[in-house]
Amino acid sequence: MCGIVGYIGDKDVASVLLAGLWKLEYRGYDSCGIAVLNGGEIDLRKTTGRLMQLQELVDKTPISGNVGIGHTRWATHGEPTSINAHPHLDCKSKIAVVHNGIIENAYVLREKLIKSMHIFKSNTDTEVIPHLIEENFQGNLLDAVIKSMKELEGSFAIAVISVDDPGKIIAARKGSPLIIGIGENENFIASDIPALAGHTKKIIILEEGQVSLITQNDVKVYNLDGKEIKKEPEKIDIAMEILDKKGYPHFMLKEIMEQPDVIRDNIKDKWTNNSINLGEKFKMSSSELASITRIIIQACGTSWHAGYVAKYLLEDIARIHTEIDISSEFRYRNPVVSGETLVVAVSQSGETADTLAGVREAKAKFLKILSFVNVRNSTIARESDNAIYINAGPEIGVASTKAYTAEIFSLYLFSLYLARIKWTLGDNIVEKRINKLKELPDKMEKVLEKKGEIEKISEKYLSAKNFLFLGRGINYPSALEGALKLKEISYIHATGYPAGEMKHGPIALIDENTPVFAVVTNSSVYDKMMSNLEEVKARKGRIIAIATEGDERIKEIAEDVIYIPDVDEEISPILTALPMQLFAYYVAAKKGYDVDKPRNLAKSVTVE
Ligand code: F6R
Repeated sequence: MCGIVGYIGDKDVASVLLAGLWKLEYRGYDSCGIAVLNGGEIDLRKTTGRLMQLQELVDKTPISGNVGIGHTRWATHGEPTSINAHPHLDCKSKIAVVHNGIIENAYVLREKLIKSMHIFKSNTDTEVIPHLIEENFQGNLLDAVIKSMKELEGSFAIAVISVDDPGKIIAARKGSPLIIGIGENENFIASDIPALAGHTKKIIILEEGQVSLITQNDVKVYNLDGKEIKKEPEKIDIAMEILDKKGYPHFMLKEIMEQPDVIRDNIKDKWTNNSINLGEKFKMSSSELASITRIIIQACGTSWHAGYVAKYLLEDIARIHTEIDISSEFRYRNPVVSGETLVVAVSQSGETADTLAGVREAKAKFLKILSFVNVRNSTIARESDNAIYINAGPEIGVASTKAYTAEIFSLYLFSLYLARIKWTLGDNIVEKRINKLKELPDKMEKVLEKKGEIEKISEKYLSAKNFLFLGRGINYPSALEGALKLKEISYIHATGYPAGEMKHGPIALIDENTPVFAVVTNSSVYDKMMSNLEEVKARKGRIIAIATEGDERIKEIAEDVIYIPDVDEEISPILTALPMQLFAYYVAAKKGYDVDKPRNLAKSVTVE
């Protein structure tokens, strides 16, 4: 999704801005631009397409100055053209603005501003911001931004510079994240921490409704009444190596291969002194947990699939009624709840707008909230009463892989933790299950060793136009996730189904041109899955099966079989995810697509 950077200092501003934007490139964008204060004017470069094109523009006509802002845009209002790219300017080209988020009352404001003779150039919602600031400007940029913010509705993070109030950047947040990086004799702003890598480890995270005045040697934060708020900088650990592919052709493949280590490290961190340790942000007492009678999990996309797996786990292991909801539905559906309802949010980025809105909705209903989040200090982590970090490490590939399995792992541990409190499992059984978990990373490695085999299988299916993914029980969400992985990076239409539902409609799709990817591992529903696959085979469907080592029967119906080690059914989704991730990866890579940055997608979806 859109990225913001800003810099004030003695270095070459265009280079610093471009370097910051490169670090945000993984998030997905379709146009980009920078604006630099150059004496009495704003020097602007914008383009559609990739940062390389922006770099070429800057190389051709260099920019100098010591204050600037930059942006990568993921189009929402208005096509990805260079006119619609940010930064946007006011009528006199004296104010430049970059913006993440959506201005919901842009239409009304635009009409009003046009009546006051403002001239608009783009089709974006963003362009109302510089014009509004121009309208409110009386010599002090901070005051003008604060005044304008009160008129803007929607969610946004903005950075503003002005020729008439130079030597400063004004940054403001309402709904979308914004971070200030504190340097020596220089300061930075960024929408995401990776943009600051290599510059500083000292940051200030702007909270809702806060505005910051950033000069070369000072950072001040204000609320919307213009009152200064004292904020101590936090120290964070941003390592440069997170942006290194470590010899892999894509981040996605690197991240798929990292999964055994992610689970290994998580076991070390979360099983200490023979007990489950859910981390420093998890503070729910046993009596609080014991009183929970219902859980609603809300999340989006891949995280929703991880939450779906957890529904099976929580109901089966902890015997708690659990619902799973897509956040964009949950936030508007006004569910029937009581004080004993726990709302669980699952989010890799911790910034997904709908999931965050779900957290806020739960807060408004006075419900307990627990979030499973990867990015530390993200908005969802900060706004939740309790959070469990899934500790997957930075995930750069837009298609989520290691965060998915790490989410399931943490949700599984939480189910075991709750089971002990609810007395549905005894300590000795929990310990036995943890011992089984400890074997999981080696088993994951065994599956990943099959990547060459999976690559070969993928070559047979490159021309398929449609795919069905089937699973049952706890591997039904695995089928949903397998289908999502394939469609989002290979652009092949794929649908996940519970196999038992086939004969109620989707079986009509089966013919020799619609491959069926099936999870048919050792489980309580193995025989049922096999019957469903016989029905596929009878209709000439081509089957690719994930099966358990030693299963000879599956070979009679499946054209291709990917064997995985035997594993307990309840943790099997962590293992069955891997062949499907690799399959999707190889199909997309062989079709020549930009695997890490699939079209139209963004890494963290900070708009509704
Ligand atoms: C798919 C994918 C998305 C995200 C979804 C939620 O591979 O990555 O479906 O899972 O946008 O994102 P988070 O987990 O950051 O809330």
